[in-house]
Amino acid sequence: MQHCSVDRERITLTGAPETMLATLYGRALDSRSRKPILNDVAAADAVRRIDYDFRRTGMNASSAAGVAMRAKKLDDWTRDFLRANENATVLHLACGLDTRVFRLSPGPHTRWVDVDLPQVVTLRERLLPVPDGDYRLIASSVTDDAWLAEVPDDRPTVVVAEGLTMYLRPSEVEALIKRVVGRFPSGELLFDVYGSFGIRMQKLVPAVRRSGATLFWGLDEPRAIEAWGVTLVEDVRSLELPEIADMPASGRVPLRIMAKLPGFRDVGRILRYRFQANRSETRASHMA
Ligand SMILES: C[S@@+](CC[C@H](N)C(=O)[O-])C[C@H]1O[C@@H](n2cnc3c(N)ncnc32)[C@H](O)[C@@H]1O
Repeated sequence: MQHCSVDRERITLTGAPETMLATLYGRALDSRSRKPILNDVAAADAVRRIDYDFRRTGMNASSAAGVAMRAKKLDDWTRDFLRANENATVLHLACGLDTRVFRLSPGPHTRWVDVDLPQVVTLRERLLPVPDGDYRLIASSVTDDAWLAEVPDDRPTVVVAEGLTMYLRPSEVEALIKRVVGRFPSGELLFDVYGSFGIRMQKLVPAVRRSGATLFWGLDEPRAIEAWGVTLVEDVRSLELPEIADMPASGRVPLRIMAKLPGFRDVGRILRYRFQANRSETRASHMA
């Protein structure tokens, strides 16, 4: 994409925060494709206002479609939750520059909370408009203690975390999931994961390699984390998403081959869990 304006935001991010430019760019490329999957035109607008060499992301038509499919699946599940729970909270972790709140356009009874690291939130505030309604943007690491207390615990809550868990250490993921599940009366937890093979092959991902980010946590058996207080509802392999069938052969065929190879097959998953907190038990364990 060519940029000509002089007042674009110059990017100085590195590591995990820089990787959000890859996913943003993926959604932008998808919106400019002949047959968009997500059609996130706001992502393309944001890209135009950023001074950054987006070639660093290594995104191409095929990986952009992958990003768009993942976002669409998480959008669909979030929308389902909001249909079933009019008075709900959406807790969108590691929001980056994702315009999910605009794509879903939640109703007046939905509370929406976006969370990301302070340097990302600063950029988000400069680049994206403030959504209407009950909206809040929290600048914090999700591994810190304080931020969750800022989110009222009075409603069913859908927690969406796209492209986050792999950047956390195993103990951080476990602590985060247990804290979220322990805070809200009930809800869903929606996120994507790398498998352990994907974690081992991480330097093959250009955005990870070039940003200097490190991926830590992988999950091969989605039921293994049910011990943390969640129940698996859906488990979708990234290589088996239905939109792959509509991709041009140049993108579709390699994915179909990968889907048959052990290791590659489980390289990424999108997971949907439910939780119903046992408040008395959780409160007791917090007090211990
Ligand atoms: C691959 S990007 C995904 C961003 C966004 N979800 C998307 O799909 O465009 C990874 C994001 O995780 C965020 N992140 C990484 N570690 C974090 C942490 N400990 N707390 C909050 N956000 C974190 C980064 O700042 C970055 O925005």
